[in-house]
Formats: sequence, structure tokens, C-alpha cells
Amino acid sequence: MLPTSVMNVDIKKIRVIEDESTIINKIIVGDCLEVMKSIKNDTFDMIFADPPYNMQLQNELYRPNNTKVDAVDDLWDQFDGFEHYDEFSKLWLQEAKRVLKKSGTIWVIGSYHNIFRVGKIMQDMGYWILNDVHWIKSNPMPNFRGVRFTNATETLVWAVKDKKVKDYTFNYEEMKTHNQGKQMRNDWYFGLCTGSERLRDEKNIKVHSTQKPLPLLERIILASTKKGDLVLDPFGGTGTTGVAAFKHERNFTMIEQDESYVDWSLKRFKSFQERLRGI
Ligand SMILES: C[S@@+](CC[C@H](N)C(=O)[O-])C[C@H]1O[C@@H](n2cnc3c(N)ncnc32)[C@H](O)[C@@H]1O
Repeated sequence: MLPTSVMNVDIKKIRVIEDESTIINKIIVGDCLEVMKSIKNDTFDMIFADPPYNMQLQNELYRPNNTKVDAVDDLWDQFDGFEHYDEFSKLWLQEAKRVLKKSGTIWVIGSYHNIFRVGKIMQDMGYWILNDVHWIKSNPMPNFRGVRFTNATETLVWAVKDKKVKDYTFNYEEMKTHNQGKQMRNDWYFGLCTGSERLRDEKNIKVHSTQKPLPLLERIILASTKKGDLVLDPFGGTGTTGVAAFKHERNFTMIEQDESYVDWSLKRFKSFQERLRGI
């Protein structure tokens, strides 16, 4: 059970950063490229980023029974080709590096569409990769047309700011306790976010096309942060990172450009806190 003080934290959205204290446990509405510029160097203990995938979907996708597949065709995922995507990635990764503490770590999740490009950019920028972790989905979407293998994985790159960093947080022993006492490996099995965890609107439509499963974020937080640490998510979406951080008594700052997702994140926090208080 979380301490009462944590359960009563008032999670708020803001648009402007007035001083450093205002970013703690806040969701900032805005473009992370701009917002990060007003955050001082060496602020965050850990960064988790789930950036646009640049999926480049051209056509709508249908199942064999003619029902439409919920693909990631959102405006936030549209780029004018690889060059544009790479430029965007360089800009946010540069700012992320600046606001990450010297001993901090960064996690970036992506699919085959973007993770190789992001990984190369990170290495070119001097980030030092600690692991690539493979999220293996127990319930992936089939390849409906049967022209490729089922795409059942996403990759997480876990890195430090540069090769010299040795004093980053890795809760090795705690990870063993989540793995029957054995050293945890880099293949992680979690289902897609479904059921009551998945946010849906009044018409039962998914609020967000890529809401990540909470247990995945909980593992990341538990592995690479300490209680009281400050975690940044520059692409906050529905607030999964914040909820995972909050649940384990870490602090967070999330940035999200779409205010409707921010409002859904606030609702999500409210119902999470109500559940904790037994309301
Ligand atoms: C892959 S989704 C993140 C989903 C999130 N991890 C979750 O569990 O809900 C990427 C999010 O980044 C947001 N986004 C894209 N570009 C952005 C930018 N420049 N600044 C802030 N948010 C951005 C999109 O609106 C989208 O919600």
C-alpha cells in the first residue's frame, strides 16, 4: 500500500514551466522539443521514451472477415520520409541527453520501423548502450495477409549518456526476485495492453492506438530507478509511465502534445488513486 501522502498527490497538467519545482508530478501539454528547452541540465534520473514509430502506413488494413484493423495511422506518426524522422529523432535525443543526470539512464522503445535508426542516432551521439531488451508479446496481432511472420516483438534500447558512466542505477537483486531468484534476461514476456487496463471512450473506441502495458513500465521503473527518483517521459500518451512511477513511489514529468491524451491521463490517475483509497 502506498503512503497516504502519495495517494493524495494532486497530479496536474501545466503549459508553462515557471520553475523547476513545478515539473514534479506534472503533465506538460506541449511539443517536447520546445518544452525540454526550458528544463535545466542534469534534471532527470531516468528517461523513458516511446516516440512516434514512423510506420508509414499507406492503406487501411482489414482482417479476413472484413473488419478494419486498428492500425497506427495517427497524425502524430506522420513524417515526410526517413530524413525528416531522423532529424526529429536527433533533436529530441539531444535534448534528452542534456536533461538526463550524469549517472542517469534512458530507455527508448520502438518497432522494426524506427528502432534501428534511433539506435544508430543514439550511438552516433555518444550514448552507450547497456542492453537491448526484447518485449515479446504473448498476444500479438497476426499478419492478416499471411505475407510475413507475425510481428511479435518490440525492442527497448537501454543506455547511459556515455561510455564512462558506471554508477547508473540497476537494481540487479530486485530483478532476480521478479525472476524466481535467477539473473533476469533481456527477453521480457508481456501481453499487449487489453481488457480493463485499456482506456476506451464512451463508444468503446480505444483512446490511444499504442497504450503500453503497465507491467512493462513497472519493470523498467523497478529495474533502473530508486524511490523518490524523477523520471521523464517526453511522449507521455495516456500516462503509463507516470502511473508506473507513481505506483512505485517515484516522481515523474510527462510531456504530451495532444491535450485529449493528457486529460485521459489525468482521469487514469484519478481512478488509480480512488482504487488505492478503496473508493
Ligand atoms: C507511441 S505514443 C506513446 C504512448 C504512451 N507510451 C502510452 O503508453 O500511452 C507517442 C505519443 O507521443 C506524442 N507526441 C508525438 N510527437 C510529440 C512531440 N513532439 N511532443 C510531445 N508529444 C509528442 C503523440 O501524441 C503520442 O501520444
